[in-house]
Amino acid sequence: MNTILITGCSSGFGLETARYFLDRDWTVVATMRTPNPDVLPPSDRLRILPLDVTDAASIARIVDAAGPIDVLVNNAGVGLLNAVEGISMDQAREVFETNTLGTIAMTKAFLPQFRERRAGVVVNVTSTVTLRPLHLLSVYTASKAAVNAFTESLALELESFGVRARIVLPGLAPETAFGTNARARMGMAIPEAYADVAAQVFAGFENPGEVTRPTDVAEAVWRAATDPSCPMRLPAGADAVAWAKAG
Ligand SMILES: NC(=O)c1ccc[n+]([C@@H]2O[C@H](COP(=O)([O-])OP(=O)(O)OC[C@H]3O[C@@H](n4cnc5c(N)ncnc54)[C@H](OP(=O)(O)O)[C@@H]3O)[C@@H](O)[C@H]2O)c1
Repeated sequence: MNTILITGCSSGFGLETARYFLDRDWTVVATMRTPNPDVLPPSDRLRILPLDVTDAASIARIVDAAGPIDVLVNNAGVGLLNAVEGISMDQAREVFETNTLGTIAMTKAFLPQFRERRAGVVVNVTSTVTLRPLHLLSVYTASKAAVNAFTESLALELESFGVRARIVLPGLAPETAFGTNARARMGMAIPEAYADVAAQVFAGFENPGEVTRPTDVAEAVWRAATDPSCPMRLPAGADAVAWAKAG
């Protein structure tokens, strides 16, 4: 029986990925900052455990509580949409603490068991925003591009131990709580000097064209977890696939 641990399962991609693996008979450790058993179907293969990826003590507790796992999915993340001038250093730190350092800390915490068993997969969820520069996304993109670079180097480092690392790059997913959560945290308004650019960006969100659905991400995580021949970078969603092809 295979076991997967997923971060950020309260909503969006993490929640859908937990459902997807449960449906395929895996044992799922669904972690959430605030555990909510109502969001997933009851199952004797499901454990819902508390985890804040920015908290070292919380990470130490999850390693003990989860026991052996086969796949770690670093999905928890926060967004930030603003010009650099409108972003406080506290906000920038929060984004890096969660998206970048949280991923590194979780990976470090679970690697010893993977290396000792000479098996295991780390799947890091980043974003297609890392594929091209975009307005108002510099800090968020930097936090995810760092995870791309981290994962590619990590894969090399772990190859001889039989441990894999892969990146899933979702496109824009208006269906998840991501945008709302990011807006709630943005606090400071976009500086007036960037108002025209911001208006264009927000207009683009109104008519996004092709988008990514949470099931696209769950399918990509499944492939990354189960197919050793899967490429290092796996775009998830119709828009993501198109962006990756366009280079
Ligand atoms: N939606 C998009 O357009 C999009 C596109 C590309 C990539 N992504 C990436 O995909 C991942 C999932 O996003 P989503 O769209 O599913 O958004 P979401 O619905 O907002 O889910 C994000 C999850 O991360 C959790 N989280 C935030 N900070 C955390 C922390 N310190 N410790 C543990 N969990 C934490 C949230 O938990 P709480 O409920 O406790 O806040 C939530 O469960 C993120 O890494 C995001 O950057 C999203």
